[in-house]
Amino acid sequence: MNQPDRPAGLVVMLPSAATAVLPADLMSRLAGALRLVAPRAVAGFAEVRAGLSEVEVLVTGWGCPPLTGELLDAMPRLRAVVHAAGSVKLHVGPEVFARGIAVSSAADANAEPVVDFTLAVLQLAGKRAFAHARRYAEGRAPTFAVGERSGNDGRTVGVVGASRIGRRVIARLRAAGFRVLVNDPYLDAADAQALGAEPVELDELCRRSDVLTLHAPELPETRHMIDERRLALLPDGAIVVNTARGSLIDTDALVRACASGRVDAVLDVTTPEPLPAGHPLFALPNVWITPHLAGVQGTEVRRLGEYAVTEVERLLAGAPLAGAVHADQLAVLA
Ligand SMILES: NC(=O)c1ccc[n+]([C@@H]2O[C@H](COP(=O)([O-])OP(=O)(O)OC[C@H]3O[C@@H](n4cnc5c(N)ncnc54)[C@H](O)[C@@H]3O)[C@@H](O)[C@H]2O)c1
Repeated sequence: MNQPDRPAGLVVMLPSAATAVLPADLMSRLAGALRLVAPRAVAGFAEVRAGLSEVEVLVTGWGCPPLTGELLDAMPRLRAVVHAAGSVKLHVGPEVFARGIAVSSAADANAEPVVDFTLAVLQLAGKRAFAHARRYAEGRAPTFAVGERSGNDGRTVGVVGASRIGRRVIARLRAAGFRVLVNDPYLDAADAQALGAEPVELDELCRRSDVLTLHAPELPETRHMIDERRLALLPDGAIVVNTARGSLIDTDALVRACASGRVDAVLDVTTPEPLPAGHPLFALPNVWITPHLAGVQGTEVRRLGEYAVTEVERLLAGAPLAGAVHADQLAVLA
């Protein structure tokens, strides 16, 4: 049960999300750590205006409104924002950091399923499994590839972005026997070596990669980083895997590259998103598209809540936050 000496807390996220992120067992664990000013998640702050002045810990999630200066003024005791989802950028800005409020994100918990998804689709695409499945469903004769285009042995994978997901992908690729190149302007040579990947410029990475997998954040400088020119640098038969953000690729250029048959693509994210029915990418036999589902789904969603509740417990125990986000990282984080 709630105890009056516990710091006051509030959960702000879409109630529909809260059901999956913080099911009853996690909510009761949270209520053991914090004196919740509202017994359930609220979608906005107006619903709990009177209790805001007490709040010391905010647990946020999908749909939490931006923490404006006015809201922060209404929460003078606020000392931590613990986000039970990935990116904090939509609701946390410099004003939060300027007030010395600690910020944490559950992006690590969301990363693992993306890594699993990436490895799975990358290896299936290496066997041209998606194109074969489509041919099969259309009643066309199987064309078991014996040539150079099919198979995962001896392949080089270019990883763009040594992000939290990118780093895990590199480790898994190395364990699976792939040769790995990496491009990330924030990665130094020693760090790359420790990861077991060869750091190269992006053009060289495109030239040498049988598979290009994107794990950089959506930023002004990453928009269309894979454009017509870089797609043309890829070797014939290359596979582009995008589980990051659609804006990293020039979609029209990708349509042309895939329509030519020179490049295959596996896309969990697109621009636009959702991709409208009838979009040319849907018609291409060598393009396989999923609707942004690489992150936590279904039974995996509670991982976010588990991470956040454990983070609150760490905070209250005076331990360092595992998912701490610092002001100077905002500009380069997903
Ligand atoms: N498909 C999904 O469901 C799903 C789920 C989670 C994350 N994502 C996406 O996956 C990507 C990686 O997420 P994350 O949480 O690992 O990111 P992250 O926040 O760890 O990424 C930040 C890192 O990206 C690297 N980086 C920054 N600018 C770069 C640049 N110009 N070129 C190359 N690398 C650069 C730097 O190493 C930086 O530290 C993001 O685009 C994110 O939006 C997708």
